[in-house]
Amino acid sequence: MELAERILTKATPTIPADLLLRQTLSRRKQLSRADSAWISRAVFSYFRWRQWLDESLPLAAQLEQALAKSDDFAINPANIPDDELVRTVPAWTGEVLTLTPEWLRSLQAEPVLWLRARAAFLTEVTSTLTPCEAAPSPAFTTALRYDGQEDLFRHDLFQAGAFEIQDLASQAVGVICAPQPGETWWDACAGEGGKTLHLSDLMEGKGLVWASDRAEWRLQRLKQRAGRAGCFNYRSVLWNGGAKPPTKTIFDGVLVDAPCSGLGTWGRNPHARWTARPEDVSELAVVQKDLLHHVTGSIRPGGKLVYAVCTLSRAETVEVADAFAAAHPEFEPCPFANPFAPTAAPTDRLTLWPQETGGNGMFIAAWRRRTDAVATTPESSEAPTAEAEAPDTSNPS
Ligand SMILES: C[S@@+](CC[C@H](N)C(=O)[O-])C[C@H]1O[C@@H](n2cnc3c(N)ncnc32)[C@H](O)[C@@H]1O
Repeated sequence: MELAERILTKATPTIPADLLLRQTLSRRKQLSRADSAWISRAVFSYFRWRQWLDESLPLAAQLEQALAKSDDFAINPANIPDDELVRTVPAWTGEVLTLTPEWLRSLQAEPVLWLRARAAFLTEVTSTLTPCEAAPSPAFTTALRYDGQEDLFRHDLFQAGAFEIQDLASQAVGVICAPQPGETWWDACAGEGGKTLHLSDLMEGKGLVWASDRAEWRLQRLKQRAGRAGCFNYRSVLWNGGAKPPTKTIFDGVLVDAPCSGLGTWGRNPHARWTARPEDVSELAVVQKDLLHHVTGSIRPGGKLVYAVCTLSRAETVEVADAFAAAHPEFEPCPFANPFAPTAAPTDRLTLWPQETGGNGMFIAAWRRRTDAVATTPESSEAPTAEAEAPDTSNPS
């Protein structure tokens, strides 16, 4: 209880509760698995049920209330009447998307843990990590739902690179990109590389994935993860999202997994509900449009552009896609199969709702550069930076 209270009092918008939890628990190796799980559950329950708690009570008592709410909801979600559900999110959320009881209710459930097994280890991972079951759609050939209690980050199979912990909606992004072995892709907002590694796996290690991000520390994490996963067909490079791309390379496909307000992750990460600001939505929509605009010159005729955001606000999803389509007639919609409904008619835009998928909320749109469009030269073509052109020495290709 004391550790959970300490995390709650320390959590701020810049030091999020999930980061504090990870740091706190990894430092206290003497804690049993059950104690660690209890602390995590208590902290997340507090933020999930925050607007139901009696703030006049000491923090410890509020934690008890939050845990009781979680238990009650797990037994019967209908115990929370629809008219109380607006308490699950800050009031401004209703201005940026249409609130439905289904979405709000989904935010109160404890999230599903999804794994992405590396294809060569699928059988071993499936039989070793129990209970675990395949995703509900054949489009996800290596996705597994894990309902066990083990600390997966410390598991030998994880350390051996046999699987990644990756949300199912994030896996849908890679499936929709559908990069082919031998192609060259650019993961423009690669962060810690969750999708870079997936693209590399889908390409069976053949071809190349450029992974850029503006945060060097994230790219460092990507290198660690890639090392563990035995992923060598990538090159990482700093890029701040500006008009000058990090390379002259013309790509078969570009993924812009853009920074966003993250409303789609509020089920998994309830602290973020109370630290996100409504201005984030409008400000990040501008960043997203700029990022899309700035990668266009790096895509070959016939090449793909995939836009993904783990948010659900109108301004960051359909409005960005509409603005891009209006500004870039040299791109046409590129319909793809919905991985959650592979037999449905293909679509070029998809909103994934947590209550329908069991994963995070996500918006994905795809375009293809028209083959009759004149190939533009990336604005960086005259002078590639030394940094961009330097081989990634951590990458023993
Ligand atoms: C949604 S996260 C990417 C997650 C990552 N693709 C993954 O699957 O693990 C967005 C990333 O965009 C990066 N970012 C934010 N603003 C940027 C900008 N202006 N240019 C380039 N990257 C940016 C952030 O550092 C963050 O890593």
